[in-house]
Amino acid sequence: MSHVVIAIDGPAASGKSSVARALAHAFGFAYVNTGAMYRAATWLVLQKGVDPADANAVAATMDAARIECGLDASHESVIRLDGEDPAPHLRDPAINQHVSAVSMVPRVRELLVARQRAYHEQGNVVMEGRDIGSAVFPQTPYKFYIDASPDVRAQRRSAQGESDSIAARDSVDSSRRNSPLMIAEDAQVIDSSRLTIEGVVGEIIGRLKLKDFPMPATARLTRA
Ligand code: CDP
Repeated sequence: MSHVVIAIDGPAASGKSSVARALAHAFGFAYVNTGAMYRAATWLVLQKGVDPADANAVAATMDAARIECGLDASHESVIRLDGEDPAPHLRDPAINQHVSAVSMVPRVRELLVARQRAYHEQGNVVMEGRDIGSAVFPQTPYKFYIDASPDVRAQRRSAQGESDSIAARDSVDSSRRNSPLMIAEDAQVIDSSRLTIEGVVGEIIGRLKLKDFPMPATARLTRA
């Protein structure tokens, strides 16, 4: 493949977003948050009054939608649906509650995975999600699974002031038939329970070096 993909997967509130963003900024890569894409789809479904549990209606809603994906000035992924920017609503309790149902619909995944792969055609990316190393870019040699204990993850989410049943979401995400949350066979697992974000980023950079990763010359690394 011409461009590099670093895949960062893991369960809810494992710290993967902060880590993926910091890594992308350090390397000058684009940062793609695929969870935000599934959250945006959920926002549209709810906005249109569609039942998130009705897979056919959810698929039809996304088929009819104009999906525009891009990068903002900080090289972070953004998505607009039917011309609207759902960003302010993506962490709403209703989205947390229904995102797992919407993201298990195969057509939703098909549409969004195509957009995720398109980012890689345009440049180097750090992409975070649930199935990036296992299904979206199984061929990348650079894949990490960030975990943390259930207690630590629950504490992190409540410290963010969010109402979010992460255990319920993890259970649906892990047991769905289509691209479940799983540890890819060749993924490097990092337990972030006792590490800071900087600590996890340093650990990833160390492991990338061991894999002869082409370290960007311009990398702004906090720990080399
Ligand atoms: O931030 P947090 O870890 O809580 O979740 P997220 O990354 O924003 O993902 C929200 C939801 O989107 C997950 O619970 C999954 O249901 C879904 N998702 C997915 O199915 N596949 C991905 N690659 C990313 C997220």
